[in-house]
Amino acid sequence: MGKRVISPGGTVEGVIELPGDKSISHRYAILAALAEGTSEISNYASAADCRSTLECLRGLGIGIESKEGRVRVAGKGLDGLREPQRALDAENSGSTMRMLAGVLAGQRFTSTITGDDSLRKRPMRRVIEPLRQMGAEIRSHEGDRAPLEIRGGGLRAIDYTPPTPSAQVKSAVLFAGLYAHGVTTVREGVNTRDHTEVALREFGAVMDGGRGAIRIHPRPKLTARQLVVPSDLSTAVFFIGATLVLPGSSLMLHNVGLNPTRARVLDFFNSIGAPVRVATVQMRNGELVGDVSVRHAALEGGTISGSQVAEMIDELPLLAALGPFTEKGIEIHDAQELRVKESDRIAALAEGLRQMGARVEEFPDGLRVEGRSAGKLRGAKVDPRGDHRIAMALSVAALGAEGDTTIRDAECVGVSFPEFYSTLDKLRGSEKK
Ligand code: S3P
Repeated sequence: MGKRVISPGGTVEGVIELPGDKSISHRYAILAALAEGTSEISNYASAADCRSTLECLRGLGIGIESKEGRVRVAGKGLDGLREPQRALDAENSGSTMRMLAGVLAGQRFTSTITGDDSLRKRPMRRVIEPLRQMGAEIRSHEGDRAPLEIRGGGLRAIDYTPPTPSAQVKSAVLFAGLYAHGVTTVREGVNTRDHTEVALREFGAVMDGGRGAIRIHPRPKLTARQLVVPSDLSTAVFFIGATLVLPGSSLMLHNVGLNPTRARVLDFFNSIGAPVRVATVQMRNGELVGDVSVRHAALEGGTISGSQVAEMIDELPLLAALGPFTEKGIEIHDAQELRVKESDRIAALAEGLRQMGARVEEFPDGLRVEGRSAGKLRGAKVDPRGDHRIAMALSVAALGAEGDTTIRDAECVGVSFPEFYSTLDKLRGSEKK
């Protein structure tokens, strides 16, 4: 695909159901591999990241059939993984590498997990540290980067508080806790997404404690399940964003994941004047799911900081890109974690939005994107730095610019949502030109 040209204008209209949530898909696949019996997962994410997880599990000897969002995983139980023949490749997926590191720490064989150029630059000390405390031997590349060589087994339970709130780190320790002697505890001051805890319970793990301190008992019998993955809210926000940028637009999204540890962004939308409504909420496999509707409205703008950051971490690029379409602009603080995502998202957003004429101030821990008074955006050539969420955020901003915008290496959207551009075209109907 290479570059992608976005012409502005038109409206977004329609009813859609997006593919499954990326975070939940990873967890279901991993736990299905560790369970006894064959699990069936429907609406599995079409994200390249989630394919990477399936490939790594295959490398560990798990039989997996995958077709059009239906995945069958022939689980082999907690002790059924096999020493891989070659390095496992997580490609661009931090979730795959960090969460699987926890599982590999529990295995009595040596394995190596690596990734693409972006992932090999991302910090891995955050998982190495607690897994070493549990007794795993881990060798890494300079500066605690991947590839990671992990020799596991004989783990002891720990009581751990990640220094930086991270659901991936929490999950790695909980997965390792399945194999530890004793009860493992993970504490968190700021609640991060709890899909791992929900899925562990669903597969039969024994957990107690709750928000703030999660305790997992070792060596449960995990049992195969039939699961349906809710649609990905973190992808849905880009279409909600498109609806808010284009006057006259309205959109309904079916069966979106509304787990309270993820859905804070919907409150934020409402707080800045975006009429986002939720209906027909139900519980599926322990996860809340519902329909989300939105229509175009004038946006006020606002500030995001503190605990909101961890709760909306993946939505921040889209929210920043909405800044020029708001009255007061969007300001983000306490979000230094954005600098160690698939790209330095603060720098990538500041650069891309400035190229489109936005007035942006960059801080070490965030940015401020001026509102409407700074003038209308204009089309430009922008570089998402290989980062899917930056590409989608800049594409949404481009819809409201004057003139065409060219997104370089736009195929990077495939990391979370390969059908992003075709879905956007469909929702814009014949007006897309
Ligand atoms: C994720 C957790 C978050 C998030 C990432 C997915 C997960 O990362 O940004 O896209 O599935 O657990 P951190 O755990 O690094 O905050």
